[in-house]
Amino acid sequence: MKTKIIGTGYYVPETVVTNHDLERIMDTSDAWIVERTGIHERRFAKKTEETTTTMAYEASKRAIDNAGIAPEEIDFIIFATLSPDYFFPGCGVLLQRMLGLHKKEIGALDIRTQCTGFIYALSIADQFIRTGMYKTILVVGSEMHSMGLDMTTRGRAVSVIFGDGAGAVVVRASEDGSGILHTNLHANGEFAEELAMTCPGCHAGHYDGDPAKYGAENAGPFDAVFINETILKNALHYPYMNGQLVFKTAVVKFVETIMEALQSTGKTPSDIDMLIPHQANLRISKFIQKRMGLRDDQVWNNIQRYGNTTAASIPIALAEAVEAGAIQRGDLLCLAAFGSGFTWGSALLYY
Ligand code: COA
Repeated sequence: MKTKIIGTGYYVPETVVTNHDLERIMDTSDAWIVERTGIHERRFAKKTEETTTTMAYEASKRAIDNAGIAPEEIDFIIFATLSPDYFFPGCGVLLQRMLGLHKKEIGALDIRTQCTGFIYALSIADQFIRTGMYKTILVVGSEMHSMGLDMTTRGRAVSVIFGDGAGAVVVRASEDGSGILHTNLHANGEFAEELAMTCPGCHAGHYDGDPAKYGAENAGPFDAVFINETILKNALHYPYMNGQLVFKTAVVKFVETIMEALQSTGKTPSDIDMLIPHQANLRISKFIQKRMGLRDDQVWNNIQRYGNTTAASIPIALAEAVEAGAIQRGDLLCLAAFGSGFTWGSALLYY
């Protein structure tokens, strides 16, 4: 018995933000962004109408329709995001409620492994399905980055890369030979702060030994330093990325995790019908493609149109490739991701 993807769906907000739009609000250029990242445009959600969960809901409805099941058949939800509606509770319960599944009181789990979130979520779903604990699981990745990016020149190295959107899959036990063959999950916390948003949080400078940076130098037991004016003034509530380290590590770890998936199942790169890498950066994807000797039609890239949507990027790309007819039932798919944590991992499956 294997865990099969029986439905896919994605949703991206209507508003298109081009590189030229960014040129108007910060010191950047279309040429710089295209050359370094491959991105031409991304989508930004409507702030007062959409959230990470509403986008996830749209993607989930499409995945459920595509699977040809009723929402009530879902008996567990796994939700990956780094941009949740609330600090707590997680988006899993909000999506459960929006889908009307609160009446069934099914479990809802949130995953916080950033760009690798969907791979972790899919792997967990696979374990639950194969042990027989659940029959039908909704696995979602959704991000609303536009809510929390520094859209000034100060934040340009990060903010030009990210976009909003959501993707979802429905998985179920299958005995027809298709389904997930392998997943591997990795992390190295040594690099936790190299791609991170460290505030708001509960550390008050504990890790960098600089409490004053967080306005916590005189903090007593009754002072809250979760978020304060010093944190805002120092722009610590925006994401930080050591771009060059991320790039150098990503190209190594992407190849390693894909090779691990292939070697543990006795496959080779030429067996892959479609590689769907997390859409981190087109240069990273092209590097992996070259290193693995894959043809253009063996790799799906859509970062040009959506930017990096973190946990949503793989399920968006998968659903888009299915919709475009670029993936057929029975195809061997490899999904792979690398990102903040650092975390990385991959999944190999017969679609
Ligand atoms: N527009 C114009 N110039 C920019 C810019 C922008 N949006 N962002 C940064 N720059 C400038 C820098 O200020 C720097 O200027 P300086 O030389 O005058 O100091 C110059 O461009 C080079 O910056 P650097 O950070 O060294 O660029 P880079 O060649 O490393 O490219 C990234 C930056 C982020 C595109 C690159 O490091 C990268 O792709 N990293 C991986 C990122 C990624 O994939 N993240 C997702 C992980 S899941």
